[in-house]
Amino acid sequence: MQVDSCVLVIFGASGDLTRRKLIPAMFEMFCAGLLPREACVLGTARRAKSDDEWREELEPWVREHAAHFDEASWHKFAQHIHYHACDATSDDSYPGLRDRIEEVGKRHGCSGNVLFFLSVAPNLYEPIVECIDRAGMVTEGKRWCSIDPSSRSWQRIIVEKPFGTDAATAATLNRVLGRAFEEEAIYRIDHYLGKEVVQGILAFRFANTIFEPIWNQRYIDNIQITAAETVGVEDRTAFYDGAGAIRDMIQSHLFQILTFVAMEPPTLYSAAHVRSEKIKVIDALRIPQDDRLEEYCALGQYGPEGDQPGYAELEGVAEGSTTETYAALALFMDNWRWAGTPFFLRSGKRLARKSTEVVISFRPPAANLFRKLPGIDGGNGLIPNRIVMEIAPRESIRVRFESKVPGLEFKLDSLEMDSDFHERFKVEEVEAYGPLIIDAMRGDQTLFKHRYEVEGAWAAVMPFLDERSAGLRAGIRGNYAPGSWGPASSDALVARHGAAWNNENAAQPH
Ligand code: BG6
Repeated sequence: MQVDSCVLVIFGASGDLTRRKLIPAMFEMFCAGLLPREACVLGTARRAKSDDEWREELEPWVREHAAHFDEASWHKFAQHIHYHACDATSDDSYPGLRDRIEEVGKRHGCSGNVLFFLSVAPNLYEPIVECIDRAGMVTEGKRWCSIDPSSRSWQRIIVEKPFGTDAATAATLNRVLGRAFEEEAIYRIDHYLGKEVVQGILAFRFANTIFEPIWNQRYIDNIQITAAETVGVEDRTAFYDGAGAIRDMIQSHLFQILTFVAMEPPTLYSAAHVRSEKIKVIDALRIPQDDRLEEYCALGQYGPEGDQPGYAELEGVAEGSTTETYAALALFMDNWRWAGTPFFLRSGKRLARKSTEVVISFRPPAANLFRKLPGIDGGNGLIPNRIVMEIAPRESIRVRFESKVPGLEFKLDSLEMDSDFHERFKVEEVEAYGPLIIDAMRGDQTLFKHRYEVEGAWAAVMPFLDERSAGLRAGIRGNYAPGSWGPASSDALVARHGAAWNNENAAQPH
């Protein structure tokens, strides 16, 4: 698919996401030659500044956050960066914004293509989309009367998470977007889908024959998906206190991993086929009964450590806040492939180690023919196989299996095959946003979420978020220590379903 040049219009030019991620990512794509030469960026925010002032402001951020920095490339890329001051929630701003988009688009040769990126506070998504619509800036599909009437240009929009705050607000946002843009022009971004190992799950499962036949409830005992962070909430309380770990990480990022791990084989690697399989996974999630929620969910909030405040003591956290900084869910699917196999999802701040991984734990062999040998437990002595897909900090896939220890005696021990993506492929890690924005420029929605998927994902977690979750939240203040693996209730949760969390440090030799 061809990457079309376009004006990337970033609403929220002075925000953190723009400085830390979007511009460094675009710079990386520019340096890698993946960004069309005519493409350009137009940042908008309220404060007045010139193109040059914005470029100067961005330079240190790019230096710090891009994989590489060199003056010459930056100088060239900076010529593609522009700035336009406006209040994006006021209709009065749009004639001026429209002119500016046309002007920079013409200057670089973008043929009327516009890719909007909502990198603003979520409460501004709807007013901005409505303004774009009223200003008649979306000419693709429904109304062909282009910004540049001589060309059949496209206009697309990338919407950052959080996509709504619950099932109802997500549905409303989808309706507002749907009034302005076709579904094919809406790109609900999740940077986890830009991660190599996450995409690698599809290759692992569907480009091989040896794993797929055993990828089901008959052979797999349980699946764990972890996104553990050592950082705390710090200065993000204004956002986080209204969100929490389920909204911030689980409903969005971890569900993306879940769909890739659990989906049926799509007929084709295409947006339509992959996305429809993801929707089916979300549809199959069982919603627990209101009076049994604690069998499926454990929540926590980190306490203080030394002179470091706990979450509850941070500035900006509401008095008596029950927002979870840790969440663990046990999810079950009502379908033939996964009936009875629990999917344990957990994510938390200030945990023992940064670790993002998927652990597939297989059932032990049906019979233990080695049971009479000395040193081997005659009961369930064989260690079950395990596949670990490590997404961060390393990018690797490891397969653990049992082996005979060389020697006269027949003894068993575990071996682990370890494939490190960097060692093997020698590719430089790039910011996940870059390739995703390039996908949006070429009209490839495979790695973006469909509206049904987003709405379904909210429906699946609502019992753990709305008033039904009050019991789960009672007394969570300080129920886990910074540097630990979360509250005791999380261990009890997986134990109830016959499992234990994998907290092994992959970096350690086994
Ligand atoms: C963001 C969350 O979406 O993802 C943050 O808002 C979180 O709270 C971050 O820290 C984690 O991303 P990554 O790529 O570091 O795992």
